[in-house]
Amino acid sequence: MAWVSYPPLVAAVSEAGGLGIMGGGRMEVEELRLAIRQVKEHTRKPFGVNVTALSPIIDELTEVILEEKIPVVSYGRGNPRPILQRCKPERVVCMPTIGALSHALKAEQDGADAVIAQGMEAGGHCSFIATMVLIPMVARGVKIPIAAAGGLCDGAGLVAALALGAEAMAMGTRFIPTQESPVLPAVKEHFIHASEDTAEVTPLITGTRCRGLRSRLVELLEERGEQAFEVPQSSAEHATWGSERMEEAFHQGDLDMGFLPCGQVVGRIHDIPTCKELMERIMSEAEQVVAGVSTRFSEQ
Ligand SMILES: Cc1cc2nc3c(=O)[nH]c(=O)nc-3n(C[C@H](O)[C@H](O)[C@H](O)COP(=O)(O)O)c2cc1C
Repeated sequence: MAWVSYPPLVAAVSEAGGLGIMGGGRMEVEELRLAIRQVKEHTRKPFGVNVTALSPIIDELTEVILEEKIPVVSYGRGNPRPILQRCKPERVVCMPTIGALSHALKAEQDGADAVIAQGMEAGGHCSFIATMVLIPMVARGVKIPIAAAGGLCDGAGLVAALALGAEAMAMGTRFIPTQESPVLPAVKEHFIHASEDTAEVTPLITGTRCRGLRSRLVELLEERGEQAFEVPQSSAEHATWGSERMEEAFHQGDLDMGFLPCGQVVGRIHDIPTCKELMERIMSEAEQVVAGVSTRFSEQ
């Protein structure tokens, strides 16, 4: 997650037993190298880096990932071949995010080692297909491992992901209100009080479908049109304009005229735990869910 998945959070997730993934998509080359080194100061556990294949500096970012010996690269949007061609020979695990079976099949054919299959409930740029439908389709369609994403925040979600055929679950929104998340305290409070129906999809912020919390900015864009806000019309500049609105919301606290990418699962998140507390809770909930379901079946 750009704006959120920065060194303190990445290190905390990996230390707690997950795979932290750095949101490197909007970083400059040396900024990414510095951020990677900051994570390494806080954990010796493996972590990944997310980039976007659309970035004009994708080759340079990929070189940093290789030089810093990052074991997992996650990516989405744009042509992934340059990333695969550079990373596969170096045995970096290549794990794109996909939102449709056809994209998963293509990723496998291109040589991806695993996919994050992300349903439409997810925060950020999202697909059209719900997680519940997408995961079993992808699980049947490809042989590579799947991490299920979109709408997951707890032990029941983990068990559901595994039951649907995934090998793991990936969470975005759940990590925003955690102690180690680098966003402003007011943003974390905003998240734990937001309801699921305010996490809407809009193309107005980045130029492509992006799910986030409805803000005054979205309302004004709908009412007055993009021209009133001098939103750039080229797709790259529109995306940059959208990123600036996210930066304003996450790190400057402008919740009205900024924009917070966020998934529907926000409606189920009501606390700000440490990553360790969160991960331990998820594992113990998952065990209880499995035991509960198995008891129900044995009673039949
Ligand atoms: C604030 C935010 C920023 C995100 N940024 C990125 C990104 O830069 N690259 C990416 O591949 N996915 C990004 N995502 C998607 C997440 O990595 C993850 O797949 C998604 O949040 C999972 O769904 P959930 O929000 O329901 O947990 C972002 C999501 C959020 C909420």
